[in-house]
Amino acid sequence: MRIDSATRDQLQAWEKELSAQYQRICQHELNLDITRGKPSADQLSLSDKLDGLLNGEYRADDGTDTRNYGGLDGLVCSRELGADILQVPASEVIAGGNSSLTLMYHAVLTGYLFGFAGNKPWREMQAPKFLCPVPGYDRHFAICEQLGIGLVNVPMTATGPDMDEVERLVQADQEIVGMWCVPKFSNPTGVTYDEETVERVARLGKIANPGFRVFWDNAYAIHDLGQQVSLPNIRTASLENDTVDCVLQFASTSKVTHAGSGVAFVSASPANLASLKQQMQAMTIGPDKVNQLRHSRLFPEFSMLKEHMKKHAEILQPKFALVLKHLDEAFGESDLGQWEKPKGGYFVSFDTRPGCAQAVVKLAADAGVKLTPAGATFPYGKDPEDRNIRIAPSFPPLEELDTAMSVFVLCVKLASVRKALAA
Ligand SMILES: Cc1ncc(COP(=O)(O)O)c(C=O)c1O
Repeated sequence: MRIDSATRDQLQAWEKELSAQYQRICQHELNLDITRGKPSADQLSLSDKLDGLLNGEYRADDGTDTRNYGGLDGLVCSRELGADILQVPASEVIAGGNSSLTLMYHAVLTGYLFGFAGNKPWREMQAPKFLCPVPGYDRHFAICEQLGIGLVNVPMTATGPDMDEVERLVQADQEIVGMWCVPKFSNPTGVTYDEETVERVARLGKIANPGFRVFWDNAYAIHDLGQQVSLPNIRTASLENDTVDCVLQFASTSKVTHAGSGVAFVSASPANLASLKQQMQAMTIGPDKVNQLRHSRLFPEFSMLKEHMKKHAEILQPKFALVLKHLDEAFGESDLGQWEKPKGGYFVSFDTRPGCAQAVVKLAADAGVKLTPAGATFPYGKDPEDRNIRIAPSFPPLEELDTAMSVFVLCVKLASVRKALAA
C-alpha cells in the first residue's frame, strides 16, 4: 500500500475495505494492553530464588548486619554489582533503594535546590532547562515538568541525539542545566549511541555552564536481545576531556530481577556524590540492605548476571521478532510508517505518516487494544508531528501480542487512508 501514489478512487476503495475489517474486529470485544514496558510474569519468575535466599544469614561479607540502620552508600557488594553493570569503579557508586527513577528525581532535586559541587542551584536561574532527545522517556520529562524546569526537544538520529543541535543549544543558552540520555537501547527508539556521540556528549562540559549535568540513564545496559552491543564508556571519555563532574550515571536491576523490588545505582564523580549524599542524608538513614544482600547472593559474579540476562532475552526475543514481523509484512513495501529494529531494550518505536498517531491510538483503543498515548514520548505530551507510537512487547503473552499487532497494523492503515482522504 502506497498512499502517495494512490488515486482518490483507490483510497476510497481501501477505506471501505479496511473499515469493514475494523468493524469485524470491534465485535470481538478485545481487552489487550501493549502500553508500558513491564517484564512478563515468566521473566519475573526467573528471579524467584531471591525469596528465602538469605535463609537467616543477614551478615554481609564485611560483617555488616544488613537488618540494621545505616550505610547511606549501600553495601560494598551491592556497589560492586552496580559498578559491574555501569563499568565504573565501585568507589564511585551508591547502591540505593528499588528505583533508579527515584535516584534521578533526587539528583534533579539536588541540582535544583542546592547545586552540584558548589555550583549555583538551578532554581536561582531565570529559566533553567533540560535537553530532551525525542522521542524519549516520559517519566524523565515528568520530573522536570514537576519542578518547573523547561524542556527543549532535540531530535534522535540512528546514532544518538543530533549532537550538532545539542552543541548549538548548549552554547547559545547558559541556562541549559541538564540533558536526558538513555544511551543504550534508548527508550523508545532502541538506538545505542555511537562512539562519536559519546565523545561529543563527554565534551559538553567544556561549553556548557559549570552546573550542567548529563543524566546518563543506562537502564538497558545489559538488556541485549542477542549479540552484545557495546556502548563506549562515558566515564572514560569524560576523564579524557576533564569533564567528569558533568556526568551522572544511573542503572537498576528492575528489569533484571523483580521490577518493583530491585536495587538501583547512581555513579558519579566524588564531588557529585558528596552533593547527592548531602541531600540524601536528610531524607534517609540508609537503603534496604537486606534486599541488596539478596541480590548480591543471587549474582555473586557478574558472569552469572549476564547468564541470567540471556534467559530474559530468550523470553523477549520471540516477542520482538513477532512485532517486527507484523510491521515488515504490513509496511515493508509501503509509505505508511518507519521503525527501527532494536537489538535490545524494551520497545519498538513506530512513526506513522505525519498527523496519524493520535487517530491510530484512538482506533486501537476503540477496538480494545490499549497503546501508549500518542505524544507520551515527547515533553508536555506534544508530538509536534503527531507521528510517534511506542510499542511495548514484553508484557503480554505471544498470542495476545499477535492479536494486538494485527489490530495495530489495521488501525495504522485505516488512519493513514482516512487522513489522506481528508487532505
Ligand atoms: C529509560 C528508563 N529509565 C528508568 C526506568 C525505570 O527504572 P527503575 O525501575 O529503576 O526506576 C525505565 C523503565 O521503563 C526506563 O525505561
